[in-house]
Amino acid sequence: MCGIIGYVGKKNSLHVLINGLKRLEYRGYDSAGVAFINKNNIEIIKEKGKVAELEKKIDFTKESNIGISHTRWATHGAANEINAHPHSCEKITLVHNGIIENYEILKKELKQKGYTFYSETDSEVVAVLLNDLYKENDIIESIIKMKKILKGSYALAILCSDYPNQIYTIRKDSPLIIAKDSEGSYVASDVPAFLEYTNKYSILAEEEIAILTKDNIEVINNKKEKITKETITFEGDINSSQKDGYDHFMLKEIFEEKDVIKRIMKDYNTFDKLIEKMKFLDKYKKFDIIACGSAYHVGVVAKYLIEEFANIPVNAEIASEYRYKNNFLDKESLAIFISQSGETADSIASLRKVKAEGIDTLGIVNVVGSSIARESDNVIYTKAGPEIAVATTKAFVAQLTIVTLMSLYLGYKNKNIKKDKVTEILKELDIIENNIDKLLKYDYKEIAKLLYKHEKIFFIGRGYDYAIALEGSLKLKEISYIHSEAYAAGELKHGTISLIEENTPVICLLTDENIIDKTISNIKEVKARGAYTIGVSNEEHEFLNNNIIIPKTKRIITPLLEVIPLQLISYEVAKLRDCDIDKPRNLAKSVTVE
Ligand code: G6P
Repeated sequence: MCGIIGYVGKKNSLHVLINGLKRLEYRGYDSAGVAFINKNNIEIIKEKGKVAELEKKIDFTKESNIGISHTRWATHGAANEINAHPHSCEKITLVHNGIIENYEILKKELKQKGYTFYSETDSEVVAVLLNDLYKENDIIESIIKMKKILKGSYALAILCSDYPNQIYTIRKDSPLIIAKDSEGSYVASDVPAFLEYTNKYSILAEEEIAILTKDNIEVINNKKEKITKETITFEGDINSSQKDGYDHFMLKEIFEEKDVIKRIMKDYNTFDKLIEKMKFLDKYKKFDIIACGSAYHVGVVAKYLIEEFANIPVNAEIASEYRYKNNFLDKESLAIFISQSGETADSIASLRKVKAEGIDTLGIVNVVGSSIARESDNVIYTKAGPEIAVATTKAFVAQLTIVTLMSLYLGYKNKNIKKDKVTEILKELDIIENNIDKLLKYDYKEIAKLLYKHEKIFFIGRGYDYAIALEGSLKLKEISYIHSEAYAAGELKHGTISLIEENTPVICLLTDENIIDKTISNIKEVKARGAYTIGVSNEEHEFLNNNIIIPKTKRIITPLLEVIPLQLISYEVAKLRDCDIDKPRNLAKSVTVE
């Protein structure tokens, strides 16, 4: 949420900053800005809207070798040019990602000291505060003092006009990484920002301050002691951030799903490998799965699968709720945190809460070295590669693959699935691409044409079909802006069925053969009230208006296949409605504020 890149070095900083911002736009895109030093003057350029709008305002012939920049996801104050970053006060100019919780009281105090504020943001307060502290004339000392005063979360890149060759950076509960190559020094929210120059980087820790100059990055702690940083090599390549001929990243990423599953399966494709990798689960008798958004929906699927196949109780919980309520975990419990970014503020807060209670934790995470990956006792990487589209698809499928494998293992361990059956299921997972190919070939445009003019669309299902319905509905509303709801099929009649009118589309998930008859009864209830029904199932059902056929596979694998048509339908509907598919309004991919 909000992307930062700063650069000092031999190159023209404006090019580095704008290219970097474009690669960070998944973190927010309602306004953007740069501050750069040209002939010892700090110049600031900001614009409402996407980075491309800012780019139009920039004169790239201007010489500058140092600058900071920001792409915003608004929290405090509307998305406009004044509220866009950088913010400045006299000698200090900075960009901020996070939320300053005590900004109102600080603002009041600073106003009493005679400062004027121009924006509605919490971030401007940081610039004014640091400027005020800096009057004591030691910038590092002032930053250390400021850290003691600020409450909340922040990643900050700071310029001080008295030191025109340096960038200062600090962070708390918001990510920030630093990198160095022969051409200069970089600070950014995430690796893609500078990946075209270097794939080596270090993670700034919470108690550290980094001082970037063109030849060096010095990292010190609050006592001004020097710190040597570990260098991490980013495994993905820059091409994963290109569209490769696809119209949108979302489509490209859906088409990458079979490769993602294949990559994961290399580590799990035999019985012995599965046992080896998952045996750490043996000591746990209860699981809480905590996550946000689509990752939470993976948790809901996992609940259905683990409870059914392994007979072990699972709570799937939304992190923003979980962090403020009691949990009922003990020494035999495992708290599992599912997150693509590994930086979701509510998930991190929940992780820290249960860790403080002495509960074992596992992260199922995509971004290597992210906060959840680092802070969990154990981590399973989902290996989906960088996901650029804001609406998650391939990372969702990767998370789902991991929880499917966990459910399989636990099912075996608890004597509900025999060894030869486990081997059979692993084989089927290993060749799942054949089934995925069949699904990718289907003409979803035709279905989309039936849907895109509607104002409301429902998804219904039971069991894991319901869990996948939640994800299908979220995907549709987030990228097409059609109001959509997912309901447990049997629950619709308790109120929401009143919204079903003649021709209201209802997407009916009915692959779960254990409960299909009950789901069919519920579908008939909506049909009787005029609904236009589209089935997602293993066979053609005549009573439905339309059918999408999911290739028959093992039950435990079915959710993995079933979600793909729903992702593609959302994509095609959003395309027909001319929506900005990769960057839907109001959203951000990495939600680093609570
Ligand atoms: C945002 C994204 C979703 C994602 C959720 C959780 O809302 O747009 O796609 O599911 O955050 O993010 P995480 O990085 O923790 O998986």
